[in-house]
Amino acid sequence: MAVLVTGGAGYIGSHACVALIQSGHNIVVLDNLSNSCRASLEQVSEITGVKFPVVIDDVNDRAALDRLFTAYQIDAVMHFAGMKAVGESCELPLTYYRNNVAGTLTLCEAMKDYGVRTLIFSSSATVYGEPLSNPITEDFPVHATNPYGQSKVMVEQVLHDLVQADALAAVPFWNIAILRYFNPVGAHASGKIGEDPLGIPNNLLPFISLVAVGKLKELSVFGGSYPTPDGTGVRDYIHVMDLAEGHVKALDKLTDEKTSSGCHTWNLGTGNGYSVLEMVSAFEAASGRPIPYKIVDCRPGDIAECWADPSKAESELGWKATRGLMEMMEDTWRWQSQNPNGFSK
Ligand code: UD1
Repeated sequence: MAVLVTGGAGYIGSHACVALIQSGHNIVVLDNLSNSCRASLEQVSEITGVKFPVVIDDVNDRAALDRLFTAYQIDAVMHFAGMKAVGESCELPLTYYRNNVAGTLTLCEAMKDYGVRTLIFSSSATVYGEPLSNPITEDFPVHATNPYGQSKVMVEQVLHDLVQADALAAVPFWNIAILRYFNPVGAHASGKIGEDPLGIPNNLLPFISLVAVGKLKELSVFGGSYPTPDGTGVRDYIHVMDLAEGHVKALDKLTDEKTSSGCHTWNLGTGNGYSVLEMVSAFEAASGRPIPYKIVDCRPGDIAECWADPSKAESELGWKATRGLMEMMEDTWRWQSQNPNGFSK
């Protein structure tokens, strides 16, 4: 298979590149480097011993997609390119809808024109909003409370509509997987690639990592009186390599001749919830560094707890997360301690 990986230089995309190459696939990466850098792809080549084409362009640029699909024979697309910061999306809704929604439309139009029918889309557990209960199954209602989440809900709807329209066609075209990620953390075990957010991180583990290396003073724990065992928010953290391997399994499934065309949704999580304070203790144990913290007000828009029921992915894809909390922490620490400045050495 030749797989186009949009956003392949980013955190999840670069780990997916490793998993794809190690499963014997060829890849072509498309990335505009707006929130990533080329060095991550050089590291992917170092880890795998494989060089691959990298196209620096934007999924929103139809002419660039025409050039790409003409130059390379593509069998399937993994679409990671997109923006993901909730707060920023509230300030810049047009930018989020342009990149996340219009970018996907442009990509799908080009795929259709070049006869590429297999698409794996990066969605998020954010589409569940505040769940009525936990664990969350794929048939829970979806709704969003911010433009980032809304962009994921909207793209999911577009993808369902494509398949809906296929039902009227003589030969159905689309073969789509929507993967709803819970909280990706960790890094490749080599320590050569990992998460390298621009500026002050919004997400928990990148923030804790920068406290551990002394770049940030202390962690603000957002809320200490949630109805959870220790009062802090509970999430389903999943190792990014488990997540990457889930994509390869979804690709195998979509391209299996026994799979009928359509739009399939799978949760990618572990099924376990950990609190912020449990994450802090686990990181301290893995790194041997103290993580000073103070409990502050809740972050607006945060939910108390959320974890996946990952059994649909297990039964239908034969995929299950295998890496536990300590491995997530050790791998995060290896990446952060070996690369205190991320990819900018
Ligand atoms: C966040 C987004 C979610 C998005 C995901 C992308 C919000 C409200 N949600 O998920 O839509 O898909 O990132 O990766 O932004 N925490 C602290 N201190 C911090 C940072 C986080 O206490 O400095 C807590 C949070 O309150 C939460 C947990 O850590 O309980 C995880 O937070 P985070 O890593 O930001 O993920 P989510 O909020 O689950």
